[in-house]
Amino acid sequence: MASNSITVTPIAGSLGAEITGVDLRRMDNHDWAQVHQAFLDYKVIAIRDQELSPQDMMDVGARFGEPNHYPFVKGMDGFPFLFEIVKEPSEKRNFGGDWHSDTTYTKTPPLATLLYALETPERGGDTLYCDMVAAYESLSDGMKEMLAPLKGVNSAALKHLGGRKTHHAAVGGMKITGTEDADSYEAVHPIVRTVDETGQKAIYCSRGHTIAFEGMTPEESKPVIDWLQAHATRPEFTCRVQWKPGTLTVWDNRRTMHNAINDYHGMRRHMRRLTSGPTNPA
Ligand SMILES: [Fe+2]
Repeated sequence: MASNSITVTPIAGSLGAEITGVDLRRMDNHDWAQVHQAFLDYKVIAIRDQELSPQDMMDVGARFGEPNHYPFVKGMDGFPFLFEIVKEPSEKRNFGGDWHSDTTYTKTPPLATLLYALETPERGGDTLYCDMVAAYESLSDGMKEMLAPLKGVNSAALKHLGGRKTHHAAVGGMKITGTEDADSYEAVHPIVRTVDETGQKAIYCSRGHTIAFEGMTPEESKPVIDWLQAHATRPEFTCRVQWKPGTLTVWDNRRTMHNAINDYHGMRRHMRRLTSGPTNPA
């Protein structure tokens, strides 16, 4: 008999749900089916009141797929796929503070990201998400036809933030690595991808990582990339997760973007991250 009594509550009109009444350490297949269904239905699930050790987090991540390696932060001792995201009270810049889907500059970017809150500021430090399926579906037929054949060149260079070196120097509380290699991480993926389990089409493009359409110059591509981002992040396509220690949020990188709000200067925020389920976008 299942020990969990799961409640799934939507948190916005387009995407996002909060899940209570589950202990992810003691999850049978029936519980997992409910959690996974909520993930498919809502794209972002904030699972409250967890007590997860690093190994527990790896076990939950394995439900979504194989772990992915993140190239720019050192993993935890004994858990190379897990890493700590820390912003100290003295720091001004945060990690993940711009709209993006995770590591789209790799050949097989992750299906899901798991982010677990250990220490949260008294106020602020929420994360915004946007629904790339709803954004796609609301496009005109003409725009859908224009985007259909396009591929995006995705880069880790973060040129819009003054380069990854500048960005890394500013996120001082973290165990940064691989900075010198950042410009060599580049991958080409479709601008509209189709998600296996749901058959939904989603825009897969961000101003942060997508530097051009394949076969076009950055200057030619930028107006459309900028427009797609402005469109996808319209308020009605977003939701907002407010963290508490013990919240594990899992989001679908194939169908969402996220943006960590940097509004808690002078306070500490400590999270732990894992990406799971390498995918071949198509
Ligand atoms: Fe991210």
